[in-house]
Amino acid sequence: MPSSTKMSSLKNGSGIKKKTQSSLRVKQGFLQLKEKDTSSLNRRVKAMEKKTEDVMWLERTVAEIVTENHLTTEIFEKYGIDFCCGGNKTVKQACEERGINIEEIEKELKQAYRKRDEFRDSNQYDKWELDFLADYITNQFHSYTKDTIYRLREIIDKVANVHGERHPETLRIRQIWHELSGELIKHMQKEELLLFPYIKQLVRAKREGTKPKPPVFGSINNPIKVMEAEHKHTGDCLGEISTLSNGFNPPEDACPTYRTMYEYLKEFDRITKMHIHLENNILFPRAMRLEEELGNT
Ligand SMILES: [Fe+2]
Ligand SMILES: [Fe+2]
Repeated sequence: MPSSTKMSSLKNGSGIKKKTQSSLRVKQGFLQLKEKDTSSLNRRVKAMEKKTEDVMWLERTVAEIVTENHLTTEIFEKYGIDFCCGGNKTVKQACEERGINIEEIEKELKQAYRKRDEFRDSNQYDKWELDFLADYITNQFHSYTKDTIYRLREIIDKVANVHGERHPETLRIRQIWHELSGELIKHMQKEELLLFPYIKQLVRAKREGTKPKPPVFGSINNPIKVMEAEHKHTGDCLGEISTLSNGFNPPEDACPTYRTMYEYLKEFDRITKMHIHLENNILFPRAMRLEEELGNT
């Protein structure tokens, strides 16, 4: 199971090319100008850079930013901005909808990019081969989900049995968890037995210059539509648990097991959002493009 520490090391290393190229142009221009008043030029350079950054942060979608830099997931999560199923909104739209101070979030996003630059050579999911990414999702995220579902179920049952009367929200959490865990197991089976093998077949066909066998489901768009709808339902269930648990904050009278339950649930929520993000925003769109490229639709 990836621990929180391990998850925090799941970083994306693709560069913020636009910003870097623009900064380079600005700096080159700075050197070419032979003005005496460098302090005023400095201010102008800063103003130009600020303008570029404004466009970059506000007009880009949440999903694009998360794909480019996975460290930003924590920030979007903190502000309650959905980066998996609702990630196609721009940062500006998402902030306006939730009444979030754009300057505050921008400051934090910049910090995340600086931190990401320190780990530039780390994981770059969007650059990985799709067969490798599908295996990675199975080995890391599906294994974690399968392990955690049952471990958490025991804890959730125990807490609901002991505290259900005083804290009825634990009874509803138990009900959601029982339904969700069964659905997630079936969901991962469909990915592992049907969708991912087809994606790997597409990758192999491209590598070998052959044509893949037409799938039983017609086009990859069909199972992907189903997977995305199930992801949305998972997101809704986790959202309801988050609301019921007051953002995974235990009540004052909570016993250690109760607190552990919320800690695990919080971690599960975070890891599952990353899992869905990798599929919805990276694996699935790239697999659809690959199928189209191979003319297999
Ligand atoms: Fe999955
Ligand atoms: Fe999935």
